[in-house]
Amino acid sequence: MDMHLRDKIAVVTGASKGIGLAICQAFAAAGAYVVAGARHNSPELQDLEADGWATFVAVDLATADGPTTLVATAAEQGRVDILVNNAGTVVPHMGGFVTVTDDDWNAALSLGLMSAVRTTRAAIPHMLEHGGSIITIGSVNSVLPDPSIIDYTATKAALANLTKGLSKEFGPNGIRANTISPGPVSTDLWLGTGGMAAQVGAASGSSPEDVVKSVGAAAATGRFTTPREVADLAVFLASDRSANITGSDIRIDGGYVTTL
Ligand SMILES: NC(=O)c1ccc[n+]([C@@H]2O[C@H](COP(=O)([O-])OP(=O)(O)OC[C@H]3O[C@@H](n4cnc5c(N)ncnc54)[C@H](OP(=O)(O)O)[C@@H]3O)[C@@H](O)[C@H]2O)c1
Repeated sequence: MDMHLRDKIAVVTGASKGIGLAICQAFAAAGAYVVAGARHNSPELQDLEADGWATFVAVDLATADGPTTLVATAAEQGRVDILVNNAGTVVPHMGGFVTVTDDDWNAALSLGLMSAVRTTRAAIPHMLEHGGSIITIGSVNSVLPDPSIIDYTATKAALANLTKGLSKEFGPNGIRANTISPGPVSTDLWLGTGGMAAQVGAASGSSPEDVVKSVGAAAATGRFTTPREVADLAVFLASDRSANITGSDIRIDGGYVTTL
């Protein structure tokens, strides 16, 4: 199926690895050009650049300037059609809510919420004339608050609320805004050195492998989602094939959330 993304310009945050990288690769495969933001480049992103499908922009998206620098680089290409707010990280606080300091909250909000606010605010003026698609990577944790990552889960809930508000204000301009809410995805966030599996395992006396096994088993499909599966959904939401989908939160979790 032609997704009509040829020659579209897409901004992707958190683009060097994991879900963001998979989205860059899927957009490029569909014919879109990607302006890719992260603090560090990666060999895979460099491959996309070498093939003429991407420009890497080194930015710290937790700062006020990072998002505007990234969007300005995309605007130099002539237009901004698609924005994917993906950058994020999670820092477990195994001691619970009272151990989460102001610095922890500020860090979670700066990257998890404000980077999306600032990147979206910078991108929308470039979409007003011809419309666009804004896709924000939320999480099942927006509806599954978790005391050990309470700053992360609150931030994800805020993103869902923000996205619905954007859809209402900018729908008349042809700008769509949706969230994708993944369950556990097989990226460094979970599986990397010092990732969630390692940290949860250390706190509970289990091996990271056992943590991964039990988290995967909690999904009806019995496994983690792959970054590529999230990317395929992002391609659909970026495309005019989903032209009347806006203000939606689309879950991709293998049935991890068991409620309606
Ligand atoms: N993995 C999961 O299970 C899961 C589930 C639900 C939702 N999500 C969400 O999906 C998104 C991506 O997660 P992931 O699993 O793909 O994580 P990941 O593999 O750790 O990748 C995170 C990406 O964000 C970039 N990044 C981190 N801090 C940054 C900063 N300050 N400025 C610019 N870029 C920054 C990283 O690059 P640099 O380090 O080079 O900056 C990297 O490209 C996050 O929003 C996460 O909350 C993930």
